[in-house]
Amino acid sequence: MKRGFGIIILFFLFTIPLTLLVSGQSKYPFDYEQLSEDERLVIRFSHVVGEDTPKGMAARKFAELLKERSNGYIEVQVFSNGTLYKDGEEMNALSRGDVQVIAPAISKLTEYVPEISVYDLPYAFHSLEEVHTFTEGVAGQKLTERLREFNLYALGIWDSGFKQMSNRLRPIQKLEDLKNLSMRIMPSDILAEQFSILGAYPKEYDFNAVFHELQKGSFDGQENTLTNITSKNFYSLQDYLTISNHGYLGYFVLFNLDFWNSLDEDVKQLITDTYLEVQEWEWELTEKLNENTLQEIEQCQCIELHHLSDEDKILWEEKFEPLYDYYIEKYGDELIKELPKFKSKT
Ligand code: SIN
Repeated sequence: MKRGFGIIILFFLFTIPLTLLVSGQSKYPFDYEQLSEDERLVIRFSHVVGEDTPKGMAARKFAELLKERSNGYIEVQVFSNGTLYKDGEEMNALSRGDVQVIAPAISKLTEYVPEISVYDLPYAFHSLEEVHTFTEGVAGQKLTERLREFNLYALGIWDSGFKQMSNRLRPIQKLEDLKNLSMRIMPSDILAEQFSILGAYPKEYDFNAVFHELQKGSFDGQENTLTNITSKNFYSLQDYLTISNHGYLGYFVLFNLDFWNSLDEDVKQLITDTYLEVQEWEWELTEKLNENTLQEIEQCQCIELHHLSDEDKILWEEKFEPLYDYYIEKYGDELIKELPKFKSKT
């Protein structure tokens, strides 16, 4: 009888403070910063881009808000610029539990869930809103389920924006201009095919190796978002930049599923609510940062800038149509038919 009573007291001693803490009603504020790492909830978050990119800033905001809202109990430690793990290492680190969250570019998940390359299809999306609608709908749900098979829990999607093309040899205005250029890509068969059908040579390199390999002349050009191009200084090694907006680059924010399942329900709720708020903020931030970056590039006159005419845009989009058949042959039409461009026709 006495033992049972003791257990009940212990239960309340441990659960009530956490419940009050995450609901923000703590009567006696508890300074978790005075506790050791073992007593706090430490979440390691690794990513490969710069601090002042949309992903870098969102990761820091996520950490700040969680710390504030949990009175320091939840500590998200953010490791940027691939300082902890690089492309190709992040996923293993997450599955080993060495880090608890990563936000890899979606193309880098194609090794696990190949059909996720639907996001890589050129001109699959014409606005970031379209990407969000697609992700929040049936396709996003199916992909989230597939990621669970790899012990990954997807909280949502962050944008980097639309990709542009840069190279060191000639202006790219017409698609023919890409012929024989070697172009760095992320690992994705759709991205490889996107350049192969134009007679260009796709070459896979890790993000953190791109600057160095451009310096060595290992390839002629690359595709990326403006914030990635400038934050990593790729444009200082490239002579021509075409604003093509031909493909989407974004991230699935992934927790190790076992780690996620081990969390208290109240903590999960706080993380989810905070994440969703940061996601909205990140989406707006991405638009602004890419717009500001474009203005800076226009003003700096440090790289020859080209824009596609409306006519060119139509030709580029048409040229990539065979890639959709290629995708369907390999992965079926389950996801592709959810793309806004097809949905609006049904
Ligand atoms: C990233 O934005 O995380 C990297 C994208 C790339 O590898 O080009």
